Amino acid sequence: LKINKIAKKTRDFVEKMKETDKTVIFFYGSQTGTAEDYAARLAKEGTQRYNLKTMTADLEDYDMNLLDTLPADHLAVFVLATYGEGEPTDNAVDFWEHLVSGEDVPEFSVGDYEDADKPLSHLHFVMFGLGNKTYEHYNSVCRRVDEKLQALGATRIGERGEGDDDGSLEEDFLSWKDDMWKAACDFLGIDFLAGNSGPRQATYKIQEHTPEEVEGLKKVYYGEHQEPKFMLGSRPTYDSKNPYSAPIAVSRELFAVSANRHCLHMEVDISGSGITYQAGDHIAVWPVNAEHEVNKLATVLRIADKLDTVLTVSNTDPASTKLPFPVPTTYRTILRNYVDITAPPSRAFIGQLTPFAPTGAASKLFALWGQDKEAFRINVADARRSLGTVLEKILGVGQSMEIPFDLLIESIPRLQARYYSISSSAKAHPTSIHLTAVVLDYKPDVAPEETVYGLATNFLHNCHGRINQSGPVEPKYEISGPNGLHLIGETGVKIPIHVRHSNFKLPRNSALPIIMIGPGTGVAPFRGFVQDRAQDVKNGKKVGATVLFFGCRREDEDYLYKDEWPELMKDIEGAQVITAFSRQPGVPKTYVQHRMNEHKELIWDLIHKQGGYFYVCGDAKNMAREVNHKLIEIAMSVGEMSEEKAMTYVKELRGRGRYEEDVWS
Ligand code: FAD
Ligand code: 2AM
Repeated sequence: LKINKIAKKTRDFVEKMKETDKTVIFFYGSQTGTAEDYAARLAKEGTQRYNLKTMTADLEDYDMNLLDTLPADHLAVFVLATYGEGEPTDNAVDFWEHLVSGEDVPEFSVGDYEDADKPLSHLHFVMFGLGNKTYEHYNSVCRRVDEKLQALGATRIGERGEGDDDGSLEEDFLSWKDDMWKAACDFLGIDFLAGNSGPRQATYKIQEHTPEEVEGLKKVYYGEHQEPKFMLGSRPTYDSKNPYSAPIAVSRELFAVSANRHCLHMEVDISGSGITYQAGDHIAVWPVNAEHEVNKLATVLRIADKLDTVLTVSNTDPASTKLPFPVPTTYRTILRNYVDITAPPSRAFIGQLTPFAPTGAASKLFALWGQDKEAFRINVADARRSLGTVLEKILGVGQSMEIPFDLLIESIPRLQARYYSISSSAKAHPTSIHLTAVVLDYKPDVAPEETVYGLATNFLHNCHGRINQSGPVEPKYEISGPNGLHLIGETGVKIPIHVRHSNFKLPRNSALPIIMIGPGTGVAPFRGFVQDRAQDVKNGKKVGATVLFFGCRREDEDYLYKDEWPELMKDIEGAQVITAFSRQPGVPKTYVQHRMNEHKELIWDLIHKQGGYFYVCGDAKNMAREVNHKLIEIAMSVGEMSEEKAMTYVKELRGRGRYEEDVWS
């Protein structure tokens, strides 16, 4: 064997494992932090329960060409999320391109093999995928990586696990991992049954600083996510690890007062930031937690009086270098800016709190909700209760308890950005990004007396209230950090954002017709598309028919951008909005797919005869599926195809990128 075609650098995980005496590595491909959290939980369980030497690894931090050099008695565990339409997460893109979408047999560090087709024949691995069944390509990233690793000679020990974010991700994970540990122990020659559940070993150390120490600190973090990546003489890059604080230039309510709901149209100013975008991309908004949630949790955990104490968090394992947020920081900043205290806590975490219960009754409830899936579902998951509310329910209002703060940091995920389909075109608005967001609040079926507020949309609503001085908007968010990261003042309100580029794009040839199906906020990217095409017309380009199917409840309440469409479309030949109102008094309930049926000849002509593009945006669960089905029906009725042929036809449209979806659940 010839060695080392590709130089090994500091990104060498095998070297790192050797130096730190590790035998199991948990790679994660994570977009919103859940896969990363699962990898960390597994690594910790391996150490604590089975005395294994484990480490976690962000796929983008290491040179995955070295996979072939992992010793045969070591184990690689992959925890991989599938994003959107079967795409890898941002941090897994390079790995994916190298392994799956590149050459049949990708090149690894040891260039020459006796069996050239099997460069990974030493590798032993396990796999867990995180996906969402409402999407067509359910868990396709983990499935394809699994297949490819095996095709390249690697051996998977144990079953591949798959979790469904639309159903029971946490339960899928919990039930997979016990069998996985059994297989891993067999492989590593460890007695599975001897696994101990001794005293908890802390992952993080907490060090509080005295005021004198704070004076000597170079920097304290009050909400920043990391130091901006400045290259000498160039601008910083803004991405999923480093948001840009963008001033909100415009914020408008789009629904009528009588709708009794809110939909925000916001424009953030990106001038001078170097950020670019195209119609169809997504903007990520980084929210902060509501003040009442921060205070509730701090009170119930007895840390309300030291929220502004500065602390440093460090890893107990010197080989681990990653921290969930930058330090030093304050308790308040952690609870407000860095960790997700409003998502329901996991069942495992609730169970872990049992020994800290201050009373026997509380102890019983922690144990019950932590073990009994049904009790957990009703009281925590489906009730969508925050950690603070769960603790209040268990302890009783006004009661409190202490838990190690490092356990909290280890057990609840980091606060994640939310994505919005950009509702503007950079051709028309190069220095601003528009978004269109419905403010979410609801009463869960299992706890109808409680109101749950969506985190990011209520944060935005609060910003909207401040900008428009329309009085206090509940719940309240404190968005001015001491260092001005989230600034309110002369320059208005800023929010942290970044742009994620997508494949949801207009045809390159603007002369081709497009059909857009976008009920509700699903219309957002289509406002960008129409602006784009209007601009093309202005620039003298030929633009094809531009047909939008829009659905909402009532014409006078939630018809988004009703006044804008005529002006935007006036110069585009064959442009029109076809509306479907579902709760218009005196009119039968109508959805976009009903309107598609009425206009089936037009649709067939534009798509089939003129080679047009078909776009769907909005609800992934029902609408997108029913629209897909409707197009199949049109292919059958107008195109006179058999059902089988029509299904293949629509599938092929998707395959050629002429049927694109931008959907969410
Ligand atoms: P969260 O605090 O995140 O709460 C949302 C969660 O609450 C849901 O995941 C669900 O689990 C739960 N939930 C919601 N309703 C109920 C209910 N009735 N009963 C029980 N549980 C419930 N949104 C837009 O408004 N406009 C857009 O243009 C847009 N584009 C998107 C594009 C993409 C690619 C994606 C992935 C999502 C998009 N979204 C869009 C959705 C958006 O990202 C957020 O999910 C949404 O705004 C809610 O965020 P939140 O933080 O306010 O709510
Ligand atoms: P409804 O809420 O009155 O049922 C935007 O949310 C619009 O999409 C509303 O008019 C909503 O109607 C409608 N909608 C709800 N379910 C849908 C589905 N399965 N297909 C298409 N539109 C739907």
